[in-house]
Amino acid sequence: MSYARPPFEIIRDPRAMRAHTEDLRRDGRTIAVVPTMGALHEGHLTLLREARKRADIVILTIFVNPTQFGPNEDLAKYPRDEAGDLAKARTCEIDLAFCPDASAMYPAGAQTFIEVRELQKPMCGASRPGHFAGVATIVAKLFHVTNAHVAVFGEKDFQQLAIIRRMVRDLDFGIEIVGVPIVREQDGLALSSRNAYLSAEQRTAALCLSKGLAAAEAAVVAGERDGAKILAAARALIEAEPLARIDYVELRDAEELTPVTTLSRPAVLAMAVFVGTTRLIDNRVLRHLG
Ligand code: PAF
Repeated sequence: MSYARPPFEIIRDPRAMRAHTEDLRRDGRTIAVVPTMGALHEGHLTLLREARKRADIVILTIFVNPTQFGPNEDLAKYPRDEAGDLAKARTCEIDLAFCPDASAMYPAGAQTFIEVRELQKPMCGASRPGHFAGVATIVAKLFHVTNAHVAVFGEKDFQQLAIIRRMVRDLDFGIEIVGVPIVREQDGLALSSRNAYLSAEQRTAALCLSKGLAAAEAAVVAGERDGAKILAAARALIEAEPLARIDYVELRDAEELTPVTTLSRPAVLAMAVFVGTTRLIDNRVLRHLG
């Protein structure tokens, strides 16, 4: 059914957003949301284009969520450019932007958090305690406030996506979660807002992540099934890069995120690597095809 799209609007108040999206639902509109922390790049625009295909109304949320940053992380210097972000997002024909401030999302005395207990423990959860409770809580709030039927996330944050899917399943959220493959530069670097922190030399060094993933995949294609050897193939490339320091490189079950010692079902090779002081993540799902 065709309908007149409403004029683009920026909403900052959660209650106003909720009331507006309740009206849209009442009018029979379907709603897709793309939650972001801003600093939009082509990867985010790919998510918005996917959302555009899936619903009548597309909502971009921009909120640098303080509760998912640790005390020594980059909350204060996280890149913020709302006007620039909105200009990019509007090329993807979004309808609404939700840009609240922290006091609107966390009223004084807020003390309720969602924890996806097991999936939040390993990998990024081990080096960023509390991070995924912050993510799950704000995403749940964004789902409530936007009344979305579908939400679109990037697969680069593999563990985040697994956690959100599990939260939605466990708590019976009536929302479809769509994962979109990682968008890469031509040379293989996964797009990330944090790439903006890299010097030219570090930018080149950062290619060790995608090269490590490619080496591991090549080992699997050549018949390797031993998890330790697959990991060693990835680590060798990263350890050879003087500007890189491994936080973790792990092979995990693609759904349960439990350790995989032999590749017999889809597993994610996931990594976090510091290049200088910038922590980058990347992953690839490896499948045993033979
Ligand atoms: O992936 C992100 O940008 C953030 O973790 C998210 C999902 C917007 C929650 O703050």
